Amino acid sequence: MKKDNLIIAIDGPSAVGKSTIAKLIAQNLGYLYIDTGAIYRAITWKVLQKNIDLNNKGLVSDLVSKIHISIKKIYRNFKNYYCIFVNGEDVTEEIRNPKIDQNVSLIAKLPKVRRQLIALQRNLAKNGCIVMEGRDIGSIILPYADIKLYFTASEEERIKRRYQELKNKGYKISYKEVKEQIIQRDIIDSNRKYAPLTKTKDAILIESTNKTIEEVKNEILEIIEKYRKSEKQ
Ligand code: CDP
Repeated sequence: MKKDNLIIAIDGPSAVGKSTIAKLIAQNLGYLYIDTGAIYRAITWKVLQKNIDLNNKGLVSDLVSKIHISIKKIYRNFKNYYCIFVNGEDVTEEIRNPKIDQNVSLIAKLPKVRRQLIALQRNLAKNGCIVMEGRDIGSIILPYADIKLYFTASEEERIKRRYQELKNKGYKISYKEVKEQIIQRDIIDSNRKYAPLTKTKDAILIESTNKTIEEVKNEILEIIEKYRKSEKQ
């Protein structure tokens, strides 16, 4: 039977283009788009705001159990914007600050914090019709996803993309700093004991170096179309 409420899981390293493509796919299908990195970023923002020691697992976990995080789709100027709120405060812009990039992986590697966030993420996907992206979506959060994609791109390409993105937003940061942050984050994300970044066996590899956004988007739409056809048999 044709399944319309698919669950699509996307994983991959930093600045590989997951968000850009996931948003376009969600828009094309009329699905919800969830950037789980934004949740870890929002927590990091609150930890830094409260001056909590990042290594104090107990205090960080306490904070996570007390704060309320929500994601809302807002339609403005003919476009969908996904905004993230911490206790009702819109932090969508602030969580992209390089200061958050520097610290987020230290928070995201805490097993207790990750476990605290499983239910929130699964709950967002409970009705299907969702494209969710992060590091452990296909492995831990939604292992039952209909389609799992794992994005890659060369390190150089990823650094270039993120540098350009931050420059466009007006942040004063050097190429060298962006490079260091991305490499450091990838090392922590891939080597942490609990829920490391990994490509599951059933995930389809999407190589995006030297491909345009349009090309990657079409490649994925074809995968989805094929999946739907195979479901019909
Ligand atoms: O945009 P970018 O790919 O650079 O990162 P992000 O998706 O915003 O994620 C920020 C950080 O959150 C990552 O470097 C991970 O440390 C963490 N993260 C995670 O551990 N698990 C997820 N499912 C999503 C993000």
